[in-house]
Amino acid sequence: MSSITPNNPPCPAYRATNKESFAYDTTIRRWPIIVDSAIKDVQQTMDEEKNNEPRVSEGRAIIAGLEEIKRELLDDSPLRQIQDSGSDCAQWNQHLQEFFPDATWFSGTWLFNECYIYRRMYELFKNSQHWIEYDCFERQKNDTFKGSYGAVFDLAKKMPGLITAMSEEKLELVYHELIQVCLWGNATDLSLLTNMSQEDITRLQAVEAEFLAERRKLILVDDTEKLWQKIKGMNGGRVDFVLDNSGFEVYVDMIFVDWLLQSKKASKVVFNCKTIPWFVSDVMPKDMPMMFENCMNRDFFPGKETRSEEDFAALETMVKRWKQYVTDGQLEIRSDDFWCTGLSYWFMESHAPELYKEMKENSDLVIYKGDLNFRKLVFDCDWPVTTPFKTAIGPSMANFTNIVTLRTNKADPIVGLSEETRKDIESKATREEWRFSGKYAVVEYN
Ligand code: F6P
Ligand code: MG
Repeated sequence: MSSITPNNPPCPAYRATNKESFAYDTTIRRWPIIVDSAIKDVQQTMDEEKNNEPRVSEGRAIIAGLEEIKRELLDDSPLRQIQDSGSDCAQWNQHLQEFFPDATWFSGTWLFNECYIYRRMYELFKNSQHWIEYDCFERQKNDTFKGSYGAVFDLAKKMPGLITAMSEEKLELVYHELIQVCLWGNATDLSLLTNMSQEDITRLQAVEAEFLAERRKLILVDDTEKLWQKIKGMNGGRVDFVLDNSGFEVYVDMIFVDWLLQSKKASKVVFNCKTIPWFVSDVMPKDMPMMFENCMNRDFFPGKETRSEEDFAALETMVKRWKQYVTDGQLEIRSDDFWCTGLSYWFMESHAPELYKEMKENSDLVIYKGDLNFRKLVFDCDWPVTTPFKTAIGPSMANFTNIVTLRTNKADPIVGLSEETRKDIESKATREEWRFSGKYAVVEYN
């Protein structure tokens, strides 16, 4: 058997060279839309800051660079080295040289290439003087969070009653509700929004019990009970989140964190964030205080006039408690370059040994949020769908610590299905529907 490398996964990799694939559609249709959204954003900032000449002239160069990325990808050019002073630059270039020396925008693996496009976009800002800290997706992140106002207030109003002193039975009931809220929060990420209407999003964010019961049927692999057995036995442990999206998703992650800390199942939670603007909506450390401030700002969400004093008070009381968790060190917000490489987590132990060791030794449970984390866990390759989760995450991750993935299905790879579920879902849904649309989900625990 030839050796496993990032460019040679255990099963065939997804590549845009296959014109029938979602990888191809993403490459030629969705990535240009995403780059265009960054161009539009930079242009808007330039328009707002017309008198800031140094910023405007560098902004023009950044836009030209973004246009160039679009050209390169549509021409299927070779992937070139990264050229900036980022702390992760040498590592990126080593991966390019060692694993993808002849790769192009189509022929490299979809996973690596999709990470590479965000790293290339970042290079343009990193090489500037006046845009160095700029997040070209921040506006989109905030706008989408604004659109989630209904579910934001609904959840805030539910929370106080949920987490006061509770019997173990009640805690269990609340756990089952919140774990689903936390799962479905992943359905609304921005890089997929190119296909979703506001109505779709509102429906996905509904938090009432009947909606959750309905949606539970869409969880194709459901290890929530196994996860409960783990959490139930915990007493003051550490839980890590490898976060996905900012705005509404991390807001519901915080709801679950609140439950973990107040129930004393965990005494410490660590949020592992991205270091650079990533897959449009992913959380960077600075997005956390921003989310808190947005929630505390009564003018942020639309429909201020329709909100009562109680609505605002519920949200503000909860968010003050969240800020206190950070101040007290119960919630640590951190990031690491490893989360923004193009590698599968099969390579975490070999390529981020300190991070691997620190989490393995200290964390009782790592919660991986979202689709990209799932793709990285299972090497983003075409496993038979009934492959056990433990096999698909590879020997090193299987031997890490307790892990769970909460993921709505937005890309090809999927594992862990029973034969019965496979037959059932293949007979009633198209591949697009059950694997890419975000309508179905998996909760898989090892
Ligand atoms: O572009 C495809 C993709 O990688 C999908 O996997 C998913 O739609 C999105 O980008 C990222 O999703 P998430 O925010 O859930 O990781
Ligand atoms: Mg994301």
